[in-house]
Amino acid sequence: MGDVRGIIVGSRNARVGFPAAIAILRAGGSALDAAVAAVKEVEANVADQSVGIGGIPNILGHVELDASIMDGRTLAAGAVGAVKHYPHPIEIARKVMETTPHVMLVGEGAELFARLHGFEPANLLTPESEAAWRRVVYGEAETQSSVYEDAYQLYMHAVRDWVKLLHKEIFGTTNVIVRDLAGNIACAVSTSGWGFKWPGRLGDSPIIGAGNYADNRYGAAACTGRGEMAIRCASAHSVVMYLRQGLSLEEALCQVMLDLRALEDPFAERANVMNIVAMDRWGNVAAASTASDATYVVQTVEMDEPEERPRLHVPLTES
Ligand code: GLY
Repeated sequence: MGDVRGIIVGSRNARVGFPAAIAILRAGGSALDAAVAAVKEVEANVADQSVGIGGIPNILGHVELDASIMDGRTLAAGAVGAVKHYPHPIEIARKVMETTPHVMLVGEGAELFARLHGFEPANLLTPESEAAWRRVVYGEAETQSSVYEDAYQLYMHAVRDWVKLLHKEIFGTTNVIVRDLAGNIACAVSTSGWGFKWPGRLGDSPIIGAGNYADNRYGAAACTGRGEMAIRCASAHSVVMYLRQGLSLEEALCQVMLDLRALEDPFAERANVMNIVAMDRWGNVAAASTASDATYVVQTVEMDEPEERPRLHVPLTES
């Protein structure tokens, strides 16, 4: 086994954050600093409708963000869920980890915490995301106003039928796992969650063990996709536990993906998707997906550019 230090791996949309992370690693900075720097860049990317500013809002039209961070050196962790108005939940999660005896704060409590710690609020709803919300909530009926008395009734109708709307759109999340030059691992995840979700719905991203887990002694893993699946199978933690039991990185990833097959899902009208990126304790990386053509990105401090690689394909059903 190699000993790969100064490396970042993550979901494809994390690529925009790699230059910031690599610069920190090259300067001898910590995995935690590099992971947060990378994720902040994705959160600030308004073109990404699955993370941070520009994220797809909930059914009420409010952008609610979730994030988590884990330090593989100490197993310290921090998370926030259903945070409105603050564009960088990953920084708030880190603050929770570093300044409180807690792991997770949600909703108004998390926002109060952010305000007291001086985080800057911002409008998270871009015109593009608002337009996407209007399309889904008001749908075709927007041009058939005679069907409903007014927009409010139309809106309330959509809210009542919300669970049907969920199958139209969108899971997205960003994650990175970083190993610094000292050999420490950190894992960071951020998302606006399931597009058009019910207010207060949390996926796997802020849940340590589900969407994020890091332990220097064995490795780390982070998930994207339908968070309910990763919660029910404790997927990120399971990867690390399979590594602990001696499976190779690829074997551990495959086993966790196969574990998802036991999930019954009466709501699965659309193809369920789960993706995992992982790193072992030596800094080797791999990733898996239920989709056949999914990729992930990786870069070491020696590389000039990130490299996009195919994920192992492990479908949810036997073919
Ligand atoms: N994986 C992100 C979510 O389900 O919210």
